[in-house]
Amino acid sequence: MQDTLNALLAQARTELAALTARADFEAAKARYVGPNGAFTALMKQMGTVPKEQRPAVGKLVNEAKARLQAELDAALARIGEAEIAAQLGPAIDPTLPSPDAGPGSYHPLTLVREEMCRILRKAGFSVVEGPEVETEYYCFDALNTPADHPARDAQDTFYFPERARFGNVTKKVPDERYLLRTHTSSVQIRTMLKGEPPIRIVSPGRVYRRDTSDATHSANFHQIECLYVDRDVTVRDLKALLDYVFASLLGKDTKTRFRPHYFGYTEPSFEVDLSAQHLPKVNKEWIEIGGCGMVDPAVFEGVGYDPAVWSGYAFGMGLERLAMLLYGIDDIRYFYQNDLRFLRQFA
Ligand code: DAH
Repeated sequence: MQDTLNALLAQARTELAALTARADFEAAKARYVGPNGAFTALMKQMGTVPKEQRPAVGKLVNEAKARLQAELDAALARIGEAEIAAQLGPAIDPTLPSPDAGPGSYHPLTLVREEMCRILRKAGFSVVEGPEVETEYYCFDALNTPADHPARDAQDTFYFPERARFGNVTKKVPDERYLLRTHTSSVQIRTMLKGEPPIRIVSPGRVYRRDTSDATHSANFHQIECLYVDRDVTVRDLKALLDYVFASLLGKDTKTRFRPHYFGYTEPSFEVDLSAQHLPKVNKEWIEIGGCGMVDPAVFEGVGYDPAVWSGYAFGMGLERLAMLLYGIDDIRYFYQNDLRFLRQFA
């Protein structure tokens, strides 16, 4: 019996040592300790051992079984480790410096924003910022956009709840509702309330509208706003500035045109179209790019400027739209997905 057990153990040891795959291990295990396994067959022979020898033989068999089990456990552990090592790939030294990921690059919206600000700084404008959480006053009332105007509709605007938490108390929001600004025009009011003319500001930033996202809409996008207030400002100044801005941004063959429109805060008001046939993706002859006009006297009165003395122009436009034209991007959603394959193209 002792010899048979030893032979079996030696055979198992050699066989297990050669195994590398889990399936082969399972098959080998079955050959020894499975229902029809060689070791199981030996155990079954215990019944035929004379009674007085049974304790001694039983001890031998139990010892052999424990050793076999140890061999099986060791083989399984070795196979498991090999599997993990295969998943991890070649060994690395984690203390070495990381491979160079290359330089980062600016987001296309940042590039267009900075370029617009640079162009406008050259024309004497300074860059200011305003808050994204606004009140109805800055976003609508002071911009001569009355309470029944569709732009104020809850369908278009994200309003904050009427009750808000201040620290750990919930209070009714004072007089007017808070909202996420629907345009950067609110910065015009904040700027005028802060000081006296002349004013020459440009204000880029995020705006929010209840839009369902598709190739040309996003509930959160970016605008750039301009305000110029001085004596004797005319539509010609406005047109000249926009011509200069677009020629600088998109190339000197870019043309602009005004179409009469309505905005509460400007009178007259226009939509601005541009034509830039040299740009690859601009296949329509005229593309609408933003709104503008001469600051409405009612807006000046609201901020305490005398409309008989002061005149001005304002314009606003979407930065995504500009970037899409400039770089030939056909889906607004690319801007927000942070897909490196997209972003790397602007390095
Ligand atoms: N606020 C307008 C919009 O979001 C754009 C605009 C129009 C801005 C006319 C202006 C302006 O400053 O004068 O569509």
